[in-house]
Amino acid sequence: MRAIITGASSGIGAALARELSRRGWSLALLARRGDLLEALAAELKTPAVALPCDVTDREAVREAARRGAEALGGPFDLAVANAGISVPTWATKFNVDDAERIIRVNVLGMFYLFDATVPAMIERGSGRFAGIASIAGLRGLPSASVYSASKAAMQSFLEASRVELAPRGVGVTIVNPGWVRTPIIEKYKGRVPFVMEAPEAARRIADGLERGAREVEFPLPMSMLMRTIRLVPNALYDVVLKPYAKRRIDPAKVRR
Ligand SMILES: NC(=O)c1ccc[n+]([C@@H]2O[C@H](COP(=O)([O-])OP(=O)(O)OC[C@H]3O[C@@H](n4cnc5c(N)ncnc54)[C@H](OP(=O)(O)O)[C@@H]3O)[C@@H](O)[C@H]2O)c1
Repeated sequence: MRAIITGASSGIGAALARELSRRGWSLALLARRGDLLEALAAELKTPAVALPCDVTDREAVREAARRGAEALGGPFDLAVANAGISVPTWATKFNVDDAERIIRVNVLGMFYLFDATVPAMIERGSGRFAGIASIAGLRGLPSASVYSASKAAMQSFLEASRVELAPRGVGVTIVNPGWVRTPIIEKYKGRVPFVMEAPEAARRIADGLERGAREVEFPLPMSMLMRTIRLVPNALYDVVLKPYAKRRIDPAKVRR
């Protein structure tokens, strides 16, 4: 079984690559930092290929997917759009460059992987496409407005695609993690509730992918909290979430 994962140089993507490799998958690993991908590929016991690539470059993603399939000996059974950035954004000091960058990586990056892998799955009548969205996509979070919007876009796209692709034999999985301890959350100075370690998150994701889950969401307390917040009326939401707009963030630890 062959899988392609974007954002495999770090955090959830690297942990998922390790977990899938333990389960016997061959892996094509995409991200910008080729040295980290090479080190990971060398560490894995199953065939793995490092494909340095910026997911905001459509042609580069197509070419990486082509080279990955060739190196691993056939088309992908699983594609995971995991590459993502989380740059804080505020409506009060809107930075359109950051907004554009987040959408390019998180949303267009997913579309480019979809474009590069799903047509071959449709042709074969099998395969699975997954997107690592977020619990943050379930409602607009102050100080993360564009990040929330990018994850909501992923969720809507994946949900609609799931319905369309099911009769063609192709599955779709939406993954909504809560806090996972990876470099992306190092910038938050305050408490991060119910944080999960990356290997545990990877196990839950791999379990969901292998059983063909439509949605994987964790940890349960964070999922229940956000699902409840989704039901809260707007006036109450505005009061409860007000402090969130003033979260303490270390700008030196924000990666773009
Ligand atoms: N950690 C959490 O609490 C959490 C919660 C919910 C959802 N998520 C989502 O999980 C996914 C993985 O994040 P993480 O927590 O594992 O953070 P991370 O450790 O910072 O990993 C992000 C990955 O995305 C890659 N990436 C970023 N921009 C890229 C680009 N332009 N082209 C190719 N690769 C790019 C990075 O690789 P390079 O820098 O080498 O390119 C890195 O491998 C993200 O989509 C994130 O939104 C995380």
